[in-house]
Amino acid sequence: MRQREEFAQEAVEEEMDMAKEEDMIEIKIPADGIKKAGLENLPGVGASTAEKFREAGYHDLMSLAVASPGELVESVGLSEAVARKIINSARNNLDMGFQTGDDLLKKRERVIKLSTGSECFDTLMGGGFETGSITECYGEFGSGKTQIGHLLAVTAQKQDPTAVTVYIDTENTFRPERIKQLAEAAGLDPEKTLSNIRVGRAYNSDHQMLLAEKVEDLIQKQNLNVKLIVVDSLTAHFRAEFIGRGTLADRQQKLNKHMHTLLKLADSCNLCVYVTNQVMAKPDTFFGDPTQAIGGHIVGHASTFRIYLRKGKKGSRVAKLVDSPHLQEGECNFFVETGGLRDVK
Ligand code: GTP
Ligand code: MG
Repeated sequence: MRQREEFAQEAVEEEMDMAKEEDMIEIKIPADGIKKAGLENLPGVGASTAEKFREAGYHDLMSLAVASPGELVESVGLSEAVARKIINSARNNLDMGFQTGDDLLKKRERVIKLSTGSECFDTLMGGGFETGSITECYGEFGSGKTQIGHLLAVTAQKQDPTAVTVYIDTENTFRPERIKQLAEAAGLDPEKTLSNIRVGRAYNSDHQMLLAEKVEDLIQKQNLNVKLIVVDSLTAHFRAEFIGRGTLADRQQKLNKHMHTLLKLADSCNLCVYVTNQVMAKPDTFFGDPTQAIGGHIVGHASTFRIYLRKGKKGSRVAKLVDSPHLQEGECNFFVETGGLRDVK
């Protein structure tokens, strides 16, 4: 019988190979600015085809422009040639919507920063977790990723009593009791706080993607003031479902679509997206920390802020800001406590 270590080693080698393979695949995250033209305007697309597209989750030109012909063949039942033609005309019809610098500055002024309750963590993040962006925390088990998700759901409401959180839970780790504790510590009504959190339990990666796509309905049809989306964990289902060499391109394509849905929501609805991610061991590291986030470049590039969480001394946690568009890299130490986060003095 083979040893467990041998299997573990093989799994690590496989991820490494996949990571190398990924360097050769280039999937671009599209720029902002989506023209809300009807799908019916595309040549050869009538009302019924447009409806099929919508049912399959393609609501606008951008989603078609970034789709692959294979995806359309599978989900809508078109021939490959027609799929290609439609994708091309969607690309041609797309207004990339360049914005002026001062428009963007005005947009930046609308950004809300969700506090973590820890002074040093907030400082590290330039005031808190920003709306309009995706913030990713990756780290080993027990490093505090889920706790931060719960905490943000509470602080969002402390800052704005009408704020709604959508919590996409893939590992069944959302705990209403924990929300109650944190809400009480923050001086909020626990029942009301819980009623402003919508939890979607995702059973597989498709379900997870669908839940993210449905957030737009909550905002537009139910008029909810969604200010935070938590996806905990972003990558676990994808990692479990796409095993082995040769599945990487499909996995990354789907992850890319998922990240794009989240990014679009963050940007168009000025809400904060918080995602958690696992790490894997990198056996060929000789210096520094031998861990690496799952999900490769797709997750790395789509996340606006990346934070690496690890366990520190005496039960504390260390958060390291690894990537950010305008903040300095840095670290901070805190404890996870019943009432929230507390700085290490
Ligand atoms: P995985 O999902 O397994 O990868 O881990 P994670 O990074 O999501 O870890 P999580 O956020 O679940 O952190 C768990 C840690 O938070 C525990 O080991 C505890 O130290 C701490 N913690 C969780 N709840 C409480 C609490 O109510 N009080 C205190 N003091 N600590 C807590
Ligand atoms: Mg967790």
